[in-house]
Amino acid sequence: EKSGYPHFMLKEIFEQPNSIADCLRGRLDVKNHSIQLGGLVDVMDKLIGAKRLIIAACGTSWHAGLVGEYLFEHLSKIPVEVEYASEFRYREPLINEDDVMLVISQSGETADTLAAVREAKQRGATVLGICNVVGSTIARETDAGVYTHAGPEIGVASTKAFTAQVSVLAMMAIMIGQKKNTIDPEYAERLIEELDRIPGKVKQIVEQSDSIKRMAELFTYAPNFLYLGRTYNFPVALEGALKLKEISYIHAEGYPAAEMKHGPIALIDAMMPVVVIAATDHTNDKMISNIEEVKARKGRIISITGKENEEVIDLSEFSCPIPETEDCLSPLLTVIPLQLLSYYIAVNRGCNVDQPRNLAKSVTVE
Ligand code: M6R
Repeated sequence: EKSGYPHFMLKEIFEQPNSIADCLRGRLDVKNHSIQLGGLVDVMDKLIGAKRLIIAACGTSWHAGLVGEYLFEHLSKIPVEVEYASEFRYREPLINEDDVMLVISQSGETADTLAAVREAKQRGATVLGICNVVGSTIARETDAGVYTHAGPEIGVASTKAFTAQVSVLAMMAIMIGQKKNTIDPEYAERLIEELDRIPGKVKQIVEQSDSIKRMAELFTYAPNFLYLGRTYNFPVALEGALKLKEISYIHAEGYPAAEMKHGPIALIDAMMPVVVIAATDHTNDKMISNIEEVKARKGRIISITGKENEEVIDLSEFSCPIPETEDCLSPLLTVIPLQLLSYYIAVNRGCNVDQPRNLAKSVTVE
């Protein structure tokens, strides 16, 4: 069932051109520049009128939720709070019938996320779900929702579920923006056309996997890694670090790039690989200054950046070029090299990639 791949994780990384296309299919109408999400029709008025949106999830799904925060605020002008589902539950949350909560879960069985659903429902909120597993408990208990249709994810490390979650969040944010008129119509059209091109661009990235494999060899025994990103790619920095921790057992941290100078910069020396995700145009100059700060302390720069971003590429020891895209859709591309990097490092270290120690695919205990 691994279709010739040595691990489910690699198979699932390579499946992403198809799983994202499956997620968009029948929803993204490029010809008419519109988006239909059947599962949300009944709650559309609630969503359009929402004064705020609370997103709750765990792990990788929480990282997708953070990308969602930027998307909803930018495109639909809805203030968003992103919560760890576990923390939400124990904070006596201020939530009531006027609120809309959105939970994100690949398995639909995560105990902390399910507990947040029940808590919010009990307080009268409208609760929506983004789940991958059809008929799962969270899918059944939420008032409405959208399936990601990424297909079964077997590897414990979540990969194709993340890109499908972000695809759903992007569709939701654009669709609500169009209905609320909070998005320039031409910009919405550009985003819809670009979303349609994302599967092809993901394919171009996975086809470069050999160069990422070679790079991984050089960093296999690094004891620590730092990941830096800004705006839409700050959550991708967190996600890259989580992937490395869980399957390669290397200590890694993700930060918004500007936070580096408030502490983590003290860690940087010639032993420290720093992965810089420089894929949002309007923060590029700031990113370049961050890279220079790292280099001045002899840190080793690996960059994930647009093919045309020569300045960043020249400053990097290694660079994984990604196709150009709209800033707000860039997480769908930038996360792919990070998934591959953690995969190849884990394989080099002899780790059990699909079943990392101490972890379960779905965490059904609180
Ligand atoms: O099934 P869920 O999306 O609710 O799972 C949430 C987390 O347990 C999950 O994303 C976990 O962090 C993954 N192992 C990350 O790769």
